[in-house]
Amino acid sequence: MPASCRLRNPASSLLLPWVTVMQIRRFKPGEEMDLWHLFHDAVHHINAADYTSEQLNAWSPDQIDIGKWRASLRNISPFVVEQERQLIGYADVQPSGYVDHFYVHHLWQRRRVGTLLMQIILEVAKQDAIDNLFADVSVTAKPFFESWGFAVEKEQYVQIHKVALKNYRMAKSLGLRTDRTAISRNHV
Ligand SMILES: CC(C)(COP(=O)(O)OP(=O)(O)OC[C@H]1O[C@@H](n2cnc3c(N)ncnc32)[C@H](O)[C@@H]1OP(=O)(O)O)[C@@H](O)C(=O)NCCC(=O)NCCS
Repeated sequence: MPASCRLRNPASSLLLPWVTVMQIRRFKPGEEMDLWHLFHDAVHHINAADYTSEQLNAWSPDQIDIGKWRASLRNISPFVVEQERQLIGYADVQPSGYVDHFYVHHLWQRRRVGTLLMQIILEVAKQDAIDNLFADVSVTAKPFFESWGFAVEKEQYVQIHKVALKNYRMAKSLGLRTDRTAISRNHV
């Protein structure tokens, strides 16, 4: 799949002229505030199912440190999903295979935005020969990651602003190393 790809809105079952598509592409400078609102709202609306308000506030305080946030987005260079000029999800994958951020807009849950993000992450991992994907996954997102074949390596508690939050280190092997070994064996 190319870095920019399209998925028809699954909520629309008919091919009508006004049906819009989701597009996925790299984050662009200038979109920091949109992504911060998406992140903040997702945490406070969706993760609220599994975490206390003290934990949610530690995870995503109401006050943004814009310099730090901008730097972190520039650093992770996420993919964003856009629909009708609105950003409705974002996620990244690092050269190490680490998936740092993975958030879908709170009003766009269970509409395959996460699926589109995971598809591009898997595609990038394949292209870049990243054999192992791993992430520190929230209690809330664990079933989604499991549905993509990620397995729990350990349950852990991370400290954010002196508040402990439970999450899971989860990983998925893409089996690329085995394939390469098999290929090189075939050529010996
Ligand atoms: C986890 C998250 C990214 C999933 O995104 P999404 O766009 O809702 O996921 P999709 O619509 O692509 O889901 C695809 C499938 O994954 C599984 N799935 C997704 N969310 C699930 C949930 N909460 N419980 C059980 N299964 C789930 C289902 O099989 C689903 O298919 P279905 O809707 O036909 O049953 C989203 O819920 C989210 O933003 N959560 C809050 C932020 C968060 O915790 N991020 C992770 C930080 S590590």
